[in-house]
Amino acid sequence: MALRNWHRASIIEFTLLKILHLRMRRLLTIFGLASVILLAAFAVRSGGDEPVLPDTPYNYADIGLPPHLSTPGIEEADNTPSNNAITDAGATLGRVLFYDRRLSANETVSCGSCHFAENGFSDPRQFSIGFEGGATPRNSMGLSFTRYYLTGKYFWDERAASLEAQTLMPIQDPVEMGMTLPAVLDRLEATTFYPGLFADAFGTQEITSDRISLALSQFLRSMVAPNSRYDQGRAAQGGPAGVPVPGLTTQENEGLQIFFGEGRCNQCHEGDLQIIDFPRNNGLDPITTDPGVGDGRFKVTSLRNVELTAPYMHDGRFETLEDVVEFYNSGIQPHPALDRILIDAGQPVRFNFSEDQRAALVAFLRTLTDDSITDVRWSDPFDIVTDSEPTEAPDLVALRAAFPNPFRTQTALRFELTEVANVKVTVYDLAGRLIATLSDGSRAAGFHEVLWDVHAIPGGVYVVRLEADGRPYIRMLTVLR
Ligand code: HEC
Ligand code: HEC
Repeated sequence: MALRNWHRASIIEFTLLKILHLRMRRLLTIFGLASVILLAAFAVRSGGDEPVLPDTPYNYADIGLPPHLSTPGIEEADNTPSNNAITDAGATLGRVLFYDRRLSANETVSCGSCHFAENGFSDPRQFSIGFEGGATPRNSMGLSFTRYYLTGKYFWDERAASLEAQTLMPIQDPVEMGMTLPAVLDRLEATTFYPGLFADAFGTQEITSDRISLALSQFLRSMVAPNSRYDQGRAAQGGPAGVPVPGLTTQENEGLQIFFGEGRCNQCHEGDLQIIDFPRNNGLDPITTDPGVGDGRFKVTSLRNVELTAPYMHDGRFETLEDVVEFYNSGIQPHPALDRILIDAGQPVRFNFSEDQRAALVAFLRTLTDDSITDVRWSDPFDIVTDSEPTEAPDLVALRAAFPNPFRTQTALRFELTEVANVKVTVYDLAGRLIATLSDGSRAAGFHEVLWDVHAIPGGVYVVRLEADGRPYIRMLTVLR
């Protein structure tokens, strides 16, 4: 079955659809007919759309970790309980549940509305938006390698005792999804496809909240992308973490050595997964505003895919990795519970790193990115647009990820045309105002790059719309300030 190319922008489009839904009147005038079509698709989907799944389930059970990620220490940190090992059918059900808006009271929000694959399953917004438009009190958390946390506790403040407990909490959260478990069961039972998916996963068609939590947990635990540039080097190298890794640049390796040495990062973000087993106070605030686990201590999250998960910290206060590094370098605040690792002679440590050292540390953090976190296994199965007419011409455009994104000054929008086409590229803000027209005219077949300069533009999320011979493609970009 042929898939249209534009499902690659899937999650992004869903966000847009949600915005369209919320701000329909203002946006309709701007986006015109195409919006109406998108909106109609939205209405159909929330009314009872079915997921499109592969005939043979994708592989989730066999993650295939390289040796440096199969050490006894890492295996010990894997909090998979003995009654919930991943199966391909179980994680497939989890995938469908993760992206199903039926799990929210008004069917507008799924887990995937606040955990985007392209952002390491975090949310580029400082605070996420729940089913009725309310903001979450904290920044969403990335989910790469989320299975590795020894105590098995989840959330910034570790209030969920296990992942199995965690997965039912957003559904019932009054801001996030606002649903009751009995109502969820009723909704899933009313579909044509869930009984079969539950039978595949658990042997019988019975739909229970326990099974929902087990399946969602399996899906989340499968989100392991072990092929970052750092991993490629480590796989070739073996041995303990912390020594320069083959394949990284001199600058990246210098950053690695700061991370594992002078910078003390590794003392909390330990080893190859940058995890530890208990919460810490890293000196964000002199006076506790959000106590977290208590005394301003928060879960030490893995830094896997950290390049993708901006903004940073429990309240998303830092927009870039540069900001984070500058905070550790010069901004650690005194606090009675400040971790002793970050104290020198009774005072918060001041590293006084040079500009080059700070840049090296950031460069190292970027080697932890593995883009395969956007793999189809973890993608939205409701968002696949199937070609009902096989004779239809193949897609004109392959829209690549903009680079960089998020960005401060300039980004490159990249796309490929299969044949000559009239291409119009426009940018809108979230209120639907036209911000810029970047390109308008005939373009040859082949690869193209359109630059967007944002010197005079406020920070925030923008919608880029590329129209090729009238067919719209959408991306969201984040401008940092
Ligand atoms: C409205 C936005 C929103 C929705 C919907 C949402 N989440 Fe989250 N998620 C968040 C935020 C915000 C946090 C951090 C909250 C905190 O720590 O207090 C979070 C944290 C998490 C964590 C903790 C990760 C860790 O390392 O401790 C997991 C796991 C998670 N979400 C999974 C899910 C699942 C599964 C669903 C769907 C059933 C879901 N989320 C729905 C916003 C959302
Ligand atoms: C004392 C323990 C400790 C040390 C040392 C430490 N961190 Fe952290 N780190 C934390 C904690 C705890 C958080 C989460 C804090 C919060 O959100 O309130 C965190 C968060 C982060 C984040 C944001 C993660 C996200 O998803 O939002 C980054 C990036 C980070 N640290 C990088 C570093 C670097 C680089 C160093 C070394 C210069 C370092 N850390 C040293 C404990 C530590």
